[in-house]
Amino acid sequence: MDDKHNGPTTKDGIRIHSEADFAGMHKAGQVAAQILDEVVEHIFVGQTTGAIDAFIEKRVNELGAESATIGYRGYQHASCISVNHVVCHGIPGDKKLKDGDILNIDVTVIIDGWFGDTSRMYVAGKLPRKAERLVEVTHDALFKGIEAVKPGNTFGDIGHAIQSFVEAQRMSVVRDFCGHGLGRVFHAPPNVLHYGRPGTGPVLEEGMFFTIEPMVNLGRPETKVLSDDWTAVTRDKSLSAQFEHSIGVTSDGFDIFTLSPGGKFHPTYE
Ligand code: MF3
Ligand code: CO
Ligand code: CO
Repeated sequence: MDDKHNGPTTKDGIRIHSEADFAGMHKAGQVAAQILDEVVEHIFVGQTTGAIDAFIEKRVNELGAESATIGYRGYQHASCISVNHVVCHGIPGDKKLKDGDILNIDVTVIIDGWFGDTSRMYVAGKLPRKAERLVEVTHDALFKGIEAVKPGNTFGDIGHAIQSFVEAQRMSVVRDFCGHGLGRVFHAPPNVLHYGRPGTGPVLEEGMFFTIEPMVNLGRPETKVLSDDWTAVTRDKSLSAQFEHSIGVTSDGFDIFTLSPGGKFHPTYE
């Protein structure tokens, strides 16, 4: 990619985007979020994760987008579906959902060259009490991080906001995976850590685009990747949850590109 046609980057290699670029990100983010809204009706006991992924791939195509994950480092699916103790990068397949399973579905689309990356939690059947607390804390942890986004704050402030909130609930933040810069590329600088110390790391500037995507475990934070080279699970087999938004830094705060058009980001519990 020819750098000079894409505006400046900071000394940390973080690209500063223009006003028009926000519109591109908004369009891509909204398609990803709309697909995650539509997925709600496809989650039920007995459903396979492969069938959910097939629906997602069909909708990506029908909406005139391209899947960012198909072909990415050999990955072959339009989504990652991570059930229960799977932390992230779960591969869709023929395993059926059981009553009380919690799952993260992560979709990344490309529209007009811009990447929209978002994930959220779903439940099959009745949500168990412990899982409900985990999902709630993980959702709120993402927003603690987002609320720390404004020019002059640092990436360490975002990580600290998430970590201190999660650990106060006696849950743990995964260290082995992080958020990332994005824009016209899928994974760009910086690494957005979900833990850290206030005032450390690069300073946030208007026009930076990145994801925040905390993974929270009920048990210990350690993970391992299975022999399929993708599926990351908790080492202690404890439940794990994740929520992800793609956001941009504005003059006085943040713009969330992947807000749910139907208000379905936070699962509603009956
Ligand atoms: N969407 C994931 C993220 O949040 C990346 C998935 S890459 C894949 O960064 F190849 F596993 F799909
Ligand atoms: Co991401
Ligand atoms: Co993602």
